[in-house]
Amino acid sequence: MCKINANQLTYICEMKNKYIDLIEQSFEFPQDEFKVIDGELYFHDIPMMDVIEQYGTPLKITYLPKISSQIQRAKRMFNVAMAKVDYKGDYHYCYCTKSSHFSFVVEEALKNDIHLETSSAFDINLIEALYDEGIIGQDLYIICNGFKKDTYIENIANMRNNGWINVIPILDNMTEFEDLDLCIKEPTKIGIRIAAEEEPKFEFYTSRLGIRYSDIVPFYMNKIKESTKFSLKMLHFFINTGIRDNAYYWNELAKCVSVYCDLKQVCPDLDSLNIGGGFPIKNSLIQDYEYEYMAEEIIAQIKSMCQQRGVPEPNIFTEFGSFTVGESGATIFQVLDIKQQNDRERWYMVDSSFMTTLPDTWGIKQRFILLPINKWDCQYQRVFLGGLTCDSQDYYNAEAHANAIFLPTIKDRTDPLYIGFFHTGAYQESIAGFGGIQHCLQPAPKHIIIDKDENGEYFTKLFSKEQTYKSMLKILGY
Ligand SMILES: Cc1ncc(COP(=O)(O)O)c(C=O)c1O
Repeated sequence: MCKINANQLTYICEMKNKYIDLIEQSFEFPQDEFKVIDGELYFHDIPMMDVIEQYGTPLKITYLPKISSQIQRAKRMFNVAMAKVDYKGDYHYCYCTKSSHFSFVVEEALKNDIHLETSSAFDINLIEALYDEGIIGQDLYIICNGFKKDTYIENIANMRNNGWINVIPILDNMTEFEDLDLCIKEPTKIGIRIAAEEEPKFEFYTSRLGIRYSDIVPFYMNKIKESTKFSLKMLHFFINTGIRDNAYYWNELAKCVSVYCDLKQVCPDLDSLNIGGGFPIKNSLIQDYEYEYMAEEIIAQIKSMCQQRGVPEPNIFTEFGSFTVGESGATIFQVLDIKQQNDRERWYMVDSSFMTTLPDTWGIKQRFILLPINKWDCQYQRVFLGGLTCDSQDYYNAEAHANAIFLPTIKDRTDPLYIGFFHTGAYQESIAGFGGIQHCLQPAPKHIIIDKDENGEYFTKLFSKEQTYKSMLKILGY
């Protein structure tokens, strides 16, 4: 018979197979926003179990202070980058409203002396609502992107005609210039969006958004130069894949700055380069993005290219969406039950749907940081997460850093496990919708806001209750 001696017994007792061991062995942990006390997770020092006890699940959370700290961080990074190379232009931070239109998000962002970027007609109504509330003034830069239908053109024109001196429509195509000309009466700054080349592995060569490189200078010379109403102030470019340290990004940036220099030589009003959004967020506990380096490299490259061409360096605008709001969000579920469907596939069924609450996990296989809220002292096992719709695509089965997920073991449904997806604050409601009808009539979760008071103590506030059946039936005509 095999006997275990005292040494082996000590070893077995010390075996590190708890969930917390898995995390501590795989990552630097704790991290800035995550720590664990007595087997339970704290997000920004807030005990998540207390929040769950108060509000239940499924639950969406917005932690407002993160929005301001992200904006301040980006401003600091770009200003430091500019100081390092004695850059002559200014830096302007715009928030791109499409990443989260909620009033509490936009209002928090606006506490940080920023500007706004819009994508459609209703965005202009949103901005006017902020103005009516006295939250913003008419001198804010309002960068109007997107392909413009009549209502968008009219709303932009009304803004400008009503005193918004820094509204800057960015021409997405050449005909928009004539459309704007018909409605706008006041002298107006405009911009042009460059149609960037797509990444080589993408399905198209050139972005459908913007005006092709080779058309920009001739278009300016033929149409805009002679205008007494419009002055071309900004060149805009946005790279779909975000700001990455790869040859594709640096190549597109260089092409864009080259067009800027060509244009500047014939267009003295031009003084700003908008490099769009695309700063990434943390979607794994492995942090490998060097934000400072990227900001410094972008600024240094723009400066050096402009110097070579004898062109004054432009003011820089950014329009960070995910970076502003993504890391403020969390989505909390309860595991309702376990389903063991064969020897290897063990499903944890959550109390909501991935397709309706985190649509990017389904649409673009986006990964978010996934952590249990309780049971960090339990052993872990490999699982698949299943959502509540009947759609076979309603699942989550991999992390950004691993093609699998591991969570604490539970006995059965009497043994509740809570899990959190973190940094889910950008785009999820814009894409899935909020409060409408949803797949299999899964209700939108309760949404709470967490903020800090003047003493640095956190407090929570209910923004919206879980959606009711009545609201859905009404939409459906019952
Ligand atoms: C023109 C423009 N600017 C900014 C953004 C924001 O990008 P991100 O959320 O990656 O910062 C987008 C996103 O689609 C965009 O199209």
